[in-house]
Amino acid sequence: MRPTVHLVEPVLREVTEAIDRDFERVDALAGVDGVVAMLTVRVDDAFFDAAGSRLRVVANYAVGVDNVDLEAARRRGIVVTNTPDVLTRATAEIAIGLTLALLRRIAEGDRFVRSAEPWRFSLEFMLGSGLDGKTLLVVGPGRIGREVARLAEAFGARAVFAGRSDDLDALLADADIVSVNCPSTAETHHLFDAARLARMKPTAVLVNTARGPIVDERALVDALRVGTIAGAALDVYEREPEVEDGLRSLDNVVLTPHLGSATRETRVAMGMLCVEGLRAVLLDGRIPANAVVVP
Ligand code: DGY
Repeated sequence: MRPTVHLVEPVLREVTEAIDRDFERVDALAGVDGVVAMLTVRVDDAFFDAAGSRLRVVANYAVGVDNVDLEAARRRGIVVTNTPDVLTRATAEIAIGLTLALLRRIAEGDRFVRSAEPWRFSLEFMLGSGLDGKTLLVVGPGRIGREVARLAEAFGARAVFAGRSDDLDALLADADIVSVNCPSTAETHHLFDAARLARMKPTAVLVNTARGPIVDERALVDALRVGTIAGAALDVYEREPEVEDGLRSLDNVVLTPHLGSATRETRVAMGMLCVEGLRAVLLDGRIPANAVVVP
């Protein structure tokens, strides 16, 4: 009998087909051998109880695993995998795209043209600023953070990194653009609160493509309203998919709906990594290279 796999949400056709080649896809969570999980679903003791004792692997369809209680998985001997590398470029592109959209006022300009307000070309109309010569502080020098830096350098920015042991406050004092690229953990929860935002230059902007809870969204709205910082670009939200109301009405903010890895190629590649994880554990009896929990 083929091992059974439950998808917490439908996945791309190519990925479904790959799953169907080796596994029995089942609708019920109870009694499965493997699960493909999403970042929108909390995978914790209650989830594991509902799945039952046959469950051996959870393939999380994301690189971030903050939705999974890793300790609970370890305790129960369940392998958890994620999707590193294949989404690095796509996510870094969104970070750079958001940065340019904010600095060059692209999203604001788009809204303006659609509003049908009369306008004509003039030299001081809607001036923004470029990346050239700016200091980009990457908070979280992992794979995605380093790729953001590499792409920003192609636009003439100077990249600086803040890791766990660096003095973030000191680095913030010089940064023009702060790109959040660290994982969401207890340690990074509200890393950007009112006090930390106040350490940024009033001309600086914050770009978050990592996870919402790293930024205190209410404090961010206040900071943007009173001019503590100049702008923000967000792809992720603290209470996703809810978005702090105050953000929508601010012109110095660019908002996208968690599109970091949202290219078809990337989402297929992520799915194939999930399938590889399921195959490794359920068919070959080995731990895959992308395991984040090895019981
Ligand atoms: C991830 O993989 O963690 C992204 O946030 C979504 O693709």
